[in-house]
Amino acid sequence: MNETEIRQLNAEDTAEYQAIFLGALQSAPAAFAADYQEESARSSEQIAERFQREVIFGAFVDGRLCAIATFLQQPSTKRRHVGMIWNMYVSEERRGTGLADMLFKHVLEAASLKVDQVELYVAIDNPRGGKFYRKYGFESYGVMPRALRVQGADFDALMMVKKFR
Ligand SMILES: CC(C)(COP(=O)(O)OP(=O)(O)OC[C@H]1O[C@@H](n2cnc3c(N)ncnc32)[C@H](O)[C@@H]1OP(=O)(O)O)[C@@H](O)C(=O)NCCC(=O)NCCS
Repeated sequence: MNETEIRQLNAEDTAEYQAIFLGALQSAPAAFAADYQEESARSSEQIAERFQREVIFGAFVDGRLCAIATFLQQPSTKRRHVGMIWNMYVSEERRGTGLADMLFKHVLEAASLKVDQVELYVAIDNPRGGKFYRKYGFESYGVMPRALRVQGADFDALMMVKKFR
């Protein structure tokens, strides 16, 4: 039986986080706005500083970080009711196991204590991701054309929102 733990990451998780995040950017570059070259150049101090700024959750299976997701409450007065979710990633061998569900439920619970709605973007040609978010009540409110340009190829993104209240 695998032991699973979901928790917010902190400075002590820097190396493991950087490893899984870089793996994510390599394996699915069109799923994330972050760029592999830029991220791989970041120092551990910069990553640790990110943990202070953003709420980054991780799912550990038998002590190993296997999934990540970031949440951030918008800072400006008129946007404080809104949170963004991004960089959701589950390592390939853990997909379809329910780990994504465990992590995402945790993220949504934490978010619902802070904001009235959460927003995210998912590439149109990522049907697995789109289906996953719809399962949690996210609705598409439009398409952002050419949301990402990855090595000269353009990717449109669905803009999705989930209202908590
Ligand atoms: C998106 C992601 C987090 C979802 O986690 P997961 O463990 O794969 O989630 P699931 O296995 O529950 O898949 C979600 C749904 O898509 C379905 N699905 C699986 N493969 C699919 C495919 N190729 N096309 C369409 N749907 C697919 C699943 O059956 C499931 O539907 P169900 O709930 O009706 O069974 C994970 O796939 C991932 O990390 N992908 C790469 C990074 C990424 O795209 N992140 C999102 C950025 S916005």
